[in-house]
Amino acid sequence: MQLAVDTFKQLRDLIYERSGMFFQDNKKYILEGRLQARLRERHCRSYEDYYKLLKFDAWRDSELTALFDLITTNETFFFRDLPQLHAFNDTIVPAVMEANQGTSKLRIWSAACSTGDEPYTLAMMLLERPGLINWSIEILGSDISETVLTQARRGVYGAHSVRNVPPALLKKYFEHEGGQYVLSPKVRQLVKFMNLNLYDQARLKMLRGLDVIFCRNCLIYFDDKAKQKIVASLYDSLRPNGYLVIGFSESMHAVSSAFKPVHAHRTVLYQKP
Ligand SMILES: C[S@@+](CC[C@H](N)C(=O)[O-])C[C@H]1O[C@@H](n2cnc3c(N)ncnc32)[C@H](O)[C@@H]1O
Repeated sequence: MQLAVDTFKQLRDLIYERSGMFFQDNKKYILEGRLQARLRERHCRSYEDYYKLLKFDAWRDSELTALFDLITTNETFFFRDLPQLHAFNDTIVPAVMEANQGTSKLRIWSAACSTGDEPYTLAMMLLERPGLINWSIEILGSDISETVLTQARRGVYGAHSVRNVPPALLKKYFEHEGGQYVLSPKVRQLVKFMNLNLYDQARLKMLRGLDVIFCRNCLIYFDDKAKQKIVASLYDSLRPNGYLVIGFSESMHAVSSAFKPVHAHRTVLYQKP
């Protein structure tokens, strides 16, 4: 089955409208490849049929969820991009602890968390800080893909995902069973997961007063306009002086000048004034 240019444009406009993810003209082959099996499963004889199903079917919303599962790139691993995590540990956490000493509460959101490796990494780092023993720690992990969230809730990982976990923490927080690494309930209980589309501004309004937001390696899938919209929502979700951490190779250039850049450990953190 071939994806005609006009149908590709209809599909990519629909995806953009609903998620902010933008497929450039040269990425037609990606959509074509990733949707092929789904077309067969849904008994569509062409990409045009599939587009109609997404647009007009009574179950179109659940088909859209299935589509997001197929088109998202979910690469992630524990302790990814260490300089940012050192900055979290040495700059962000002490600042938040000082600001919140009256309430002893810490609220973090990992906004495109994939299989949960990122929020669980943050949870482990916080468990390792004796100064936080009596604190109430809430970590929310969210993603647009239901498949990765199911894996995140399970908390079972392959060797590749845990390759960067310091050996002492691997021993302390994982059970090694049949070639898999099973995360300890102590870490799992700190993180709650939720399906959340970052392009859905109305739903993002329920998240307010956060101390820290990690939104790493996700903005690359959006065009500047969508990035601006998403980052503006993240800004509103932070409390004053809260921190936003974006991907190591991502930039706020042409996206937002509302944040104060804070340099730490050769990385840039974005603080809400
Ligand atoms: C490459 S992973 C990044 C995972 C993790 N933050 C990290 O840096 O290791 C990007 C994630 O963004 C999610 N994503 C893409 N578009 C999204 C949207 N509109 N709303 C929420 N999540 C989205 C994908 O499903 C994917 O799991």
